[in-house]
Amino acid sequence: MTCNIAVFGTGYLGATHAACMAELGHHVIGVDVDASKLAKLESGEVPFYEPGLQEVLQRNIAAGRLRFTSSYQEAASFADIHFLGVGTPQKKGEFAADLTYVDAVIEQLAPLLEKPAVIFGKSTVPVGTAARLAAKARQLAPAGVDVEVAWNPEFLREGFAVQDTLHPDRLVLGIDRDFPGRAEEAARAVYAQLLDEGIPFIVTDLATSELVKTSANAFLATKISFINAMAEVCEAAGADVTVLADAIGHDERIGRKFLNAGVGFGGGCLPKDIRAFMARAGELGADQALTFLREVDDINMRRRARMVELAREACGSLLGARVAVLGAAFKPDSDDVRDSPALNVAGQIQLQGAAVNVYDPKAMDNSRALFPTLGYSTSALDACSGADVVLVLTEWREFKELNPNDLGRVVRQKSLIDGRNCLNPTTWRDAGWTYRGLGRP
Ligand code: UDX
Repeated sequence: MTCNIAVFGTGYLGATHAACMAELGHHVIGVDVDASKLAKLESGEVPFYEPGLQEVLQRNIAAGRLRFTSSYQEAASFADIHFLGVGTPQKKGEFAADLTYVDAVIEQLAPLLEKPAVIFGKSTVPVGTAARLAAKARQLAPAGVDVEVAWNPEFLREGFAVQDTLHPDRLVLGIDRDFPGRAEEAARAVYAQLLDEGIPFIVTDLATSELVKTSANAFLATKISFINAMAEVCEAAGADVTVLADAIGHDERIGRKFLNAGVGFGGGCLPKDIRAFMARAGELGADQALTFLREVDDINMRRRARMVELAREACGSLLGARVAVLGAAFKPDSDDVRDSPALNVAGQIQLQGAAVNVYDPKAMDNSRALFPTLGYSTSALDACSGADVVLVLTEWREFKELNPNDLGRVVRQKSLIDGRNCLNPTTWRDAGWTYRGLGRP
C-alpha cells in the first residue's frame, strides 16, 4: 500500500528518512523552515556528507515520489502520516534536551490538519515527551479531526544512514495505550517491505519506546567508556588495550563491537543523549540509577585531555610547536563535527600555544565554521609539513593507508600519536617513527 507521508525536519535524520520512505514506494513531502537546505534538497543535493544518500534522493525526486516544502499547510493537506525528525539539542548551560523544535512542529501542524492523522515521533526525546505532545496535538487539532501521536525511535548511524533506515536491526513503535487508534496499522503499512523481510517489530507503550532509544545510546556510550577506562589502566600497567579488547570481545556476551579505545565518543547524539537522560532521570526522582553516566561522560572527556598531554610530551612544550591533526569529523564517513573529539583536541592544543594544522577528507567546511582560527590544509601531507607531532584523531581509511616514508619526508620530527588505534605500530616504527597509541605500551 502506498502512503502519503510528510517528514518534518530535513537534517541527518529527516532527510534520510524522507528519501528512504520514498525509496519504499511511498509519496513523501519533506518539510523544513531552512530555505537554503530545502533549495539544496530540491535540486537533488544532500546538504551533508552521507554515503549513498544522494543517489536515493535523486532517484526518488526524478520518479516524482519525493518533494520538499516550507509550507506546513501543504504538508497537512497532502499527508495523513507524519514523521517528526527535528533536532533535540542540549540546552545551553544545562544537561537537559531542548524540545523547542519538537514542540514547534506539533504547534504548527496540529491546527492545520484536515483529516485523521498519525504523527510518528522519531527524534530522541526525554521519556514522557510523547504523551505530552499527544495531548497537545489533540488539543490543537480542529474539532472532529482525529490526531494520534506514536513514537518510532530512529537508531541510524551516520555513515550508514541509508542502510540503517532500509534494513534496521529492529523497528520499535510506542503507542498511546490510553488513546488506541490506527498507529500500529499505519506503521505496518509504511514499513510493510521491512516487516516482510522479517525485521523484528516491537510494539510497546510510549514511555518504553522513548526509553529504548535513550538506553541504547547510554549502553553504547558506556561500552566505549568502559574500554577507554581499561585504556587508562593499560597505560598505567604497560599493557595493550587493543589486544585486551580483541580477547574479551571473543566472549559472545561481550562482543568486539564498540570496544575501540581512543579519543572517545562525540557527535550529535551520544554526548547530549546521555546528559539529557541523566537530567530526565533526576526529574523523575531516579537520578541514582544513572549517576554512572556521569562517570561515563568524565572518562570520555579525560581521553581528550590525555591526547593533549601526549602531544605535549612529544613536543616537549606546546608553545611554538607545530602540530598536525589528521581528522576533524567525529567519526569517519561523516562530515559532522558536532562535539567532535578531534576538533576539541585541536582547539585545546592551539589554545596552549601550538600552531595546529588540520586536514579531514570531508569535514573541512564544517570545521572552519566552528573553529575558524585553526590552520587548515588541503591534504594530509600538507598538514604534516614541518610538524613536530602528527595526531590521527579520526580513523578515515585515507589515514590508515598513509605511507610512513612519504610522511617522514615532510615532518620535522617523526612522531605520531594514534588517537584511534587504527594504524599498525610495527609499520610505523620500522619506518623510523616514534609511535604512540592510546592505551598501548
Ligand atoms: C549513534 C548510535 O550508534 C545510533 O544508533 C544512534 O541512532 C545515534 O547515535 P552516531 O552518532 O552516528 O550513532 O555514531 P556512532 O557510530 O555510534 O559513534 C559515536 C562515537 O563513538 C564516534 O565519535 C565514534 O568515533 C566513537 N566510537 C565508536 C568509539 O570511540 N569507539 C568505538 O568502539 C565505537
